[in-house]
Amino acid sequence: ACYSSSLQFTVFIECKDYLWFSYGHLSPLFCYCFSVAAFPGGQIVGNKVFITSGYEGNFDDLKQRCLQAGGQLASPRNAAENTAIQQIVVLYKKSVFLGITDIQSEGKFKYLNGEAIVYSNWQQGEPNDEKGRENCVEVYGNGKWNDRSCGEKKLILCEF
Ligand code: IPD
Ligand code: CA
Repeated sequence: ACYSSSLQFTVFIECKDYLWFSYGHLSPLFCYCFSVAAFPGGQIVGNKVFITSGYEGNFDDLKQRCLQAGGQLASPRNAAENTAIQQIVVLYKKSVFLGITDIQSEGKFKYLNGEAIVYSNWQQGEPNDEKGRENCVEVYGNGKWNDRSCGEKKLILCEF
């Protein structure tokens, strides 16, 4: 799955160069971690990796692209993961959509697998479902969350 995605392919190109020149004995796992850490749009938290390619699109588009890459939209389950996401938002100066929606049942935010969220970081006054049209979740530069229309275009951020 790693080699089938354009997102990860970029990472592995850097990775191969790195291996070729200096670390030929390292396993692909080490190689992957070094490369992600060196990639400006990449963050590692525990055993989770967040990567953006810089692409922007609406929620369905981004969700599909992360799936195709063998991952899913960023779905923070704790403050450390949320901080890693925030750092990418700040670096790119663009908000991202999380893999969290209340599309199924208004006001009940869930991960894409249907599980109720275990962590949240809502901006004060959010989620407000403005005009009854906000079922997706964006992350601001301050790390806080806002429910937002899924049709808006946001920066892609996948987790692996
Ligand atoms: C809105 C505001 C509001 C938030 C909405 C946004 P807009 O921005 O930021 O506080 O709850 O989700 O759409 O549409 O007035 O630029
Ligand atoms: Ca809102």
